[in-house]
Amino acid sequence: MCGIVGYIGEGQAADIILDALKRLEYRGYDSSGIATLEQNALHLTRAVGKLSHLEAALQSKPQAGQIGIGHTRWATHGGVTEANAHPHVAGNKVAIVHNGIIENYAELKTELQAKGHEFSSQTDSEVLAHLFLDALGQGQTGSAAMQAVLAKIKGAFALAVMLQEAPDQLFVARNASPLAIGIEDGLICVASDAMAMAHLTRNVIYLKDGDYAALGVDDVQIYDRDGQRANREVIRTTASPALIDKGGFRHFMEKEIHEQPEAIAHTISAMTAADGALRTGLSEADLSDIQHLVILAAGTSNYAGQIGRYWLEDIAGIPVSVETASEYRYRAPAHLAGGAVIAISQSGESLDTLMALRHAREKGMKVIAIVNVPESSIAREADVILPTRAGPEIGVASTKAFTAQLTVLFALAVDFGRAKARLSAEDVAELQQKLLAVPGAVGAAIASFEQVQPVAQHLKKTPSCLFLGRGRLYPLALEAALKLKELSYIHAEGFAAGEMKHGPIALIEDELPVICLLDEDTLSAKTISNLKEAEARGATIILIATQTIAKQVDFASFKVVIEDCDPLLAPIILAVPAQILAYQTAFEKGTDVDQPRNLAKSVTVE
Ligand code: G6P
Repeated sequence: MCGIVGYIGEGQAADIILDALKRLEYRGYDSSGIATLEQNALHLTRAVGKLSHLEAALQSKPQAGQIGIGHTRWATHGGVTEANAHPHVAGNKVAIVHNGIIENYAELKTELQAKGHEFSSQTDSEVLAHLFLDALGQGQTGSAAMQAVLAKIKGAFALAVMLQEAPDQLFVARNASPLAIGIEDGLICVASDAMAMAHLTRNVIYLKDGDYAALGVDDVQIYDRDGQRANREVIRTTASPALIDKGGFRHFMEKEIHEQPEAIAHTISAMTAADGALRTGLSEADLSDIQHLVILAAGTSNYAGQIGRYWLEDIAGIPVSVETASEYRYRAPAHLAGGAVIAISQSGESLDTLMALRHAREKGMKVIAIVNVPESSIAREADVILPTRAGPEIGVASTKAFTAQLTVLFALAVDFGRAKARLSAEDVAELQQKLLAVPGAVGAAIASFEQVQPVAQHLKKTPSCLFLGRGRLYPLALEAALKLKELSYIHAEGFAAGEMKHGPIALIEDELPVICLLDEDTLSAKTISNLKEAEARGATIILIATQTIAKQVDFASFKVVIEDCDPLLAPIILAVPAQILAYQTAFEKGTDVDQPRNLAKSVTVE
């Protein structure tokens, strides 16, 4: 993660870079900084905390220059201090911004220190600035210095470099971390995400892994990892140029919870063929040939995958395994012939998922991607893209992207079931009708804000709680626990309700909140028994459930009740009150809902 920006043009670089960084703050918000070059002098402003702190610093001390680089940081190496904030400057000649991790920085730092280089931060990134200084000291040009630096460093990175001796050029490189170059008459810019500069230009070049470039206005020189000049296509980006606002809501998350009916409806309509049939976009050959699936994802996207497994197995009869991307990458999974992987990622940039996808591809597997950002790295590396149409998601905790991912996974199960002749035409039509009812049901579930309020008041005082669910609602219990912990910092764990008796029940003591997700299906009687067992041991039972089954649980202290819905699709609809519970509890506690501590929306480090 971390967001990087670079700009050369006729405008004031600091203002333009600050504006671009605002669009990248989702990538990290521990600290930020901007360096500009003006009349042969490097100027630097850095600030700890949110971007607003950098903005205030720049207002009190404006920074001139028509070339500059900027950064918003998610700390990896070194604490959250101004000294560790980017840009890092060496010898007043080199300024760099970096996203990623330089894995061999410690040995490089030792070598540089032996040569007399002095470091002022604990970061791996500062090593890059000194490596450049060292190369320039040996008389190398910017591009040659970049090539020399790249030959020394290991890891995943995107970097932008500004040199005092080259006031009309920026030097950039990428390996695994994202970097886009924007080109327009009279300006050139770079950013970790094309969205950050879409208001400046729609003409974008995505560098390939190992590429580096020397960039000037009307002068783009790209080299591949062997140092050969390379041509990379200029595309028209579809990234939204608008700086998204909260539209009258208190937080982006609240707005995004409310946008779910629309996000789901758009996602369904993009999967609806001209004749009205549900079609995901996977070819008929793939739908009939693929015999099993491996789902790769991280965080909330992984929980979407776990729910999707129930549908794919139940509706389509396809064996599915769901893998934690960061683990899969370093295992030697036994690959069966006839399989495909599905990488699920809101951002399309999670490095763990990207690396897992590459690992699977090396084993010869076809790659399907469910992504919300169509130009992302994962989308660009996939064989088939099944897009979620949730629109930009800004709140760090995923809401509308999650329910849109579930929508695609359900449609995929139906599509496989149809193509494999496991479903009749009537079955398909019936399932499609059920899916079409989801946006309305989700809209109705959003009305649970009021019911959630007393539960949030209660939960905010608790240090710990448990979430339970069975069947399709088990992964939703995991997701609900993740949401609550990441937003409110309350310790929360999700368990399969039936697994309680095998250990977690030992955690139950007087008034421990046990929050159960429940709908009316074949397992609900068993889940209610599991809840009884918790209640008998003093737990405070909180129910998030559909109407009819909720009436059967007369021992719950709190109930959040939504309209009855088809159990098959209940995970999508019950996700909404679970999101609202996390949101309201965090709001009541006064934590930073949209930018929780230590988190970032897009995690481009391993
Ligand atoms: C980060 C975010 C999570 C997200 C996960 C996967 O950890 O904080 O909210 O679920 O990345 O993100 P992706 O963009 O791959 O879905």
